[in-house]
Order: sequence, then structure tokens, then C-alpha cells
Amino acid sequence: MSPALPARRHAVLVKPSVAAAEQEAASLIAQLLVAGPNAVLGLATGRSMIGVYEELVRRCERGDVSFARAQSFNLDEYCGLPAEHPASFAAYMDRHLFGAVDIDPARAHLPDGNAPDGARAYEDAIAAAGGIDLQLLGIGRNGHIGFNEPGSDRDTRTRIVDLAQETRKANAPDFPDGLPVPDRAITMGIATIMKARRIVLLATGAAKAEALADALEGAVGKHNPASFLRLHPDVTIVCDPEAAHTLTPPTEMEKRHG
Ligand code: GLP
Repeated sequence: MSPALPARRHAVLVKPSVAAAEQEAASLIAQLLVAGPNAVLGLATGRSMIGVYEELVRRCERGDVSFARAQSFNLDEYCGLPAEHPASFAAYMDRHLFGAVDIDPARAHLPDGNAPDGARAYEDAIAAAGGIDLQLLGIGRNGHIGFNEPGSDRDTRTRIVDLAQETRKANAPDFPDGLPVPDRAITMGIATIMKARRIVLLATGAAKAEALADALEGAVGKHNPASFLRLHPDVTIVCDPEAAHTLTPPTEMEKRHG
């Protein structure tokens, strides 16, 4: 590797079960908070993250970890939903994490899907906090990260986006009683995500296998926004065997040298 390039740390951790993968992701966040209690976290929503947050809540209750001095910035939020709507990401975060740990609500930020002019202010708030130390990510079945759908450029920043039909369909179970899934959202951009110092992507379940394999082993490009993460210097992919089942197994030499 050219000495002019920064050292890259990429790891793919295939854990034996979904629960083990969730615990691993929670451990990476907990380790960061123990090493630096005033860490700036980038947080994600989605079904994949529920077990991660449950584990962090348990650790917080045991006194093993504290969010009291931390700050957080969520990736995204729907447009057109009040924050109190149960399917909003704000409500999700209160339900699964913020309401159960010792984080200061004033330091737990989400982009406001009802204030499109706030996109720039959100970027400024992240910068004012010193940037994100660890960005937690899930992955959509089409390779989206945050709500950066296929077609999103590498240089995108926080902005309003249209949601892909398949994303709206995948998220429909969060909208009971036939309520329509919003067709727009506000999301950190790819460039916003890539500025985080460390990225942890959690992928579990067979439905993610194709997008994950393409992100890690296909071409890097906007057809699969998660593939851009390969250009980041410090990425840890945590997955279960189902999400990993189409990945090319590492060679013996790669296993020895990580
Ligand atoms: C969403 C979120 C993403 C999330 C993805 C996968 O809609 N905007 O941040 O990673 O879809 O969600 P799930 O974990 O439910 O599969």
C-alpha cells in the first residue's frame, strides 16, 4: 500500500447467530463509551437495531456503560410524520433506547423531517459536536444506508430524498391500519456518513445477503450505496451466517492476517 494512503481497517465479523451479532454491535458501542464517555454516536433505526439497543439498555441498567456524557445523531427521519407518531424514528429511539438509558435528551439529535431547511443545520450540529466517532448502520435490501437509496452519489450530504417503493414496502409493517408509508425522508448523505471516524454496519437475516455481498464484493458505486463504505478507512461489518451466506469465504491467509 502506498504510504500516502491512510491505513485501512476493514473487518467482516460473522457471528454464530442474530443475537450474537447484535451483542457484538452493542459491545463495539459500549467499548467506545467506556474509553471515551463523551463520545459522539451516529445511530440507526430499523428492526436490526432493536436487539442492539436492548443489549445497551441492559448494560446501562447494570452500570457497565453510561450515555450521560455522550451525544448522538440519528441517520434519518420520515417527512410528514409528527415526532410523536409511533412509526417516526424519533418515537422508535425513545422506545428502544433514549427512554431507557441515561442520555440527556437535549444531546440526542434526529434530523427533522418536517423542517427541510434544517438539513444544513444538522450537518453544522454534527461538525460542532466534533464529528461522529462511531456511526452505526443497517443496510436496506437494495443496499441503502440511512435513506440513501440506489442512485445516491458519494458526495451527498443531509437532504430530503424520495423513498424507493421496495423500501416503503419493507417498512410498511411499522405503519399498521393501512396507514401509508411516507414517500419522502430526510437523511444524512453518503459523504456525511463517510466522515464518521469509525463505521459499524450490522446485517442480519437472509434478506440482506444479496445486498451485503454486492456491497462488499461487487463494484463500488451508487447502484449500491453501502459499497461506498469500502472507501472508508475503518469499517466493521457484523453479520449472522444467513446475511453472510453468499460472501466469498476468507482464504486461510486472510484469516491469519485479519
Ligand atoms: C430503514 C432505515 C435504515 C435501515 C434499513 C434496514 O428504513 N432508514 O437506516 O438500516 O431500513 O432496516 P431493517 O433493519 O428494519 O431491515
